[in-house]
Amino acid sequence: MDSGIELAKKSDIPLMLEFWRNTPGIELGGDDAESLVLFMQKNPSTCLIIRNEEEIIGTVLGGYDGRRAFIYHLAVHHAFRGKGYGKKLLDGVITQFEALKVEKIHLFVINDNHAAITFYAKQGWVKRQDITVFSFNPKK
Ligand SMILES: CC(C)(COP(=O)(O)OP(=O)(O)OC[C@H]1O[C@@H](n2cnc3c(N)ncnc32)[C@H](O)[C@@H]1OP(=O)(O)O)[C@@H](O)C(=O)NCCC(=O)NCCS
Repeated sequence: MDSGIELAKKSDIPLMLEFWRNTPGIELGGDDAESLVLFMQKNPSTCLIIRNEEEIIGTVLGGYDGRRAFIYHLAVHHAFRGKGYGKKLLDGVITQFEALKVEKIHLFVINDNHAAITFYAKQGWVKRQDITVFSFNPKK
């Protein structure tokens, strides 16, 4: 993996949650420490972080269900944007997925997140016109 990128650890979770809470464009959904521990256990090679001594520079979570892979919470601290960290994290998680023989990766972007849409398009990702997303909450 590219130097500077590390596997996120359980001990990173509180800072990661705080980082995402303060990052517009990231939808926390039901994320909490417990659900993230589970996610990391299920995806031990695809939850990545870049940081310096004081703070998180960027994160990405990759999830593979055995058929398709999904990317969540790709985020770079606003003070470090435009320096290639987003691309580095995206390339890093793709490399990890490749090692798992993943065939296709999907991700969700909120429609008005134009920065992220431009970013992904620049990285060669294709915006699907042929799919509508359905969601269902079994707890309700
Ligand atoms: C999207 C995000 C991760 C990009 O991170 P970043 O570190 O600034 O991106 P990079 O510096 O690696 O940029 C890579 C390329 O994308 C382009 N790019 C990045 N942000 C862009 C923007 N807002 N508008 C246009 N182009 C952009 C860069 O110019 C660069 O292009 P180049 O390769 O031609 O030089 C960052 O803006 C972010 O954290 N946004 C908030 C969280 C978010 O919305 N995440 C996506 C959730 S789906």
